Amino acid sequence: MINSRIYEKRRAVVARALKAAGGGIALLPTAPEVARNRDSDFPYRHDSYFYYLTGFSEPGAWLTIEASGKSTLFCRPKDMEREIWDGIRLGPKAAPAALGVDQAFSVETIDKTMPQLLANQRAVWFPFSTHKGLETQVDGWLNQVRAKVRLGAECPGSQHDLCKVLDEMRLVKDKHEIDILRRAGQISAGAHVRAMQTSAAMLRSGFKGGPREYHLEAELLHEFRRHGSEYPAYTSIVAAGANACVLHYRAGDAELKAGDLCLIDAGCELGGYASDITRTFPTNGKFTPAQRTLYDIVLAAQYAAVAVTKPGKRFTNPHDAATRVLIEGMLETGLLPKAKHGKVDDVLASGAYRQFYMHRTSHWMGMDVHDCGDYTEPTGKATRQTDALGQDVLRKPSRILQPGMVLTIEPGLYVRPAKGVPKEFWNIGIRIEDDALVTAKGCELLTRGVPVDADEIEALMRG
Ligand code: GLY
Ligand code: MN
Ligand code: MN
Repeated sequence: MINSRIYEKRRAVVARALKAAGGGIALLPTAPEVARNRDSDFPYRHDSYFYYLTGFSEPGAWLTIEASGKSTLFCRPKDMEREIWDGIRLGPKAAPAALGVDQAFSVETIDKTMPQLLANQRAVWFPFSTHKGLETQVDGWLNQVRAKVRLGAECPGSQHDLCKVLDEMRLVKDKHEIDILRRAGQISAGAHVRAMQTSAAMLRSGFKGGPREYHLEAELLHEFRRHGSEYPAYTSIVAAGANACVLHYRAGDAELKAGDLCLIDAGCELGGYASDITRTFPTNGKFTPAQRTLYDIVLAAQYAAVAVTKPGKRFTNPHDAATRVLIEGMLETGLLPKAKHGKVDDVLASGAYRQFYMHRTSHWMGMDVHDCGDYTEPTGKATRQTDALGQDVLRKPSRILQPGMVLTIEPGLYVRPAKGVPKEFWNIGIRIEDDALVTAKGCELLTRGVPVDADEIEALMRG
């Protein structure tokens, strides 16, 4: 059963935002069903914004919220024949009691009812550039209102991006969301533990044909699903050996060879909320000295980032802290020879570190694994800055972290074979990723149910 109070409160916040901006009506659809091939669909996944305001995960639904606070749901009508094939529908009659909305209609009436709701509203708010064809649909409804102006109807005079309101709301997680994120993090951590143990056990037992990436992916999925996760929050990466240097690699059929590392980036989605964990471990449970050297650098970089993930710090601070530690490591190990590259500040200025660390350290996380939310201060003053690619850009200051924000911390090192790069490090790819909830004094790592320290990983895999 849906706890409709949570969603009623969120809708009330939207109504207040509309009112503060001069009034109007907000509308938003859920996600469409998407065909996979012939008559098979991809598993259905609701739209995150829509779900955030309703807790309703059926396809074919729309929500409107008026500045007065009145809410209207459009949903699929009851239909015995379709329900026999596709499953129970809530239907408009039961929707107000189940979801706490003020009224509900069949979605089949939307082209008639939506213009009535839009008439005499000062403004219309909907998510811009998120739903294909939505602008055209809204335009059609507004045209219908305009056709009635001679009868006294007034057409909304302005359009606003509803994402601006919802993104700010979703950026700071409430207690209900934090509880789910914590649980999602625990389940995913358990899945990583299971994958590590399976890898070592399969190698110990001399599994015929060798363990493969897909064997570990199966262990992850098993663990996600058996704890009630609907599906993975994103396509799992299980990368053996050199595959770890391909940032968007997926689980393939490569063999996990003893002596190689395996990088797993995988997290479950639970109750509409993501988790996002990366661990890198020796397939047989024992790091080689070269692997351990680079692993400990990445781990130190992550700790440096965690230390500055707290209220008052900026979103970019963890990245800056991690990058400095990674660069120190690159200089110490000869990945970047000191004689050629100088000191940490020289490498930061030249950007030479990007040969081995080419992505950012964090992103927001929540309902979407790469969650919504401004990465800069919304009211900050833009100044000229140099971006990650050395370009001169006009940019607002980075977002100040507040309790309730959730971000990943995921430094890495990726060493492709190249001239001048010490051979012992070739084809090693390492990333360590945890999900951090900003708290009153610092941050809580939601995903540390799987060890991260190299000795602890070895101990776990021996067990
Ligand atoms: N798994 C996606 C990411 O780490 O950003
Ligand atoms: Mn991530
Ligand atoms: Mn990840």
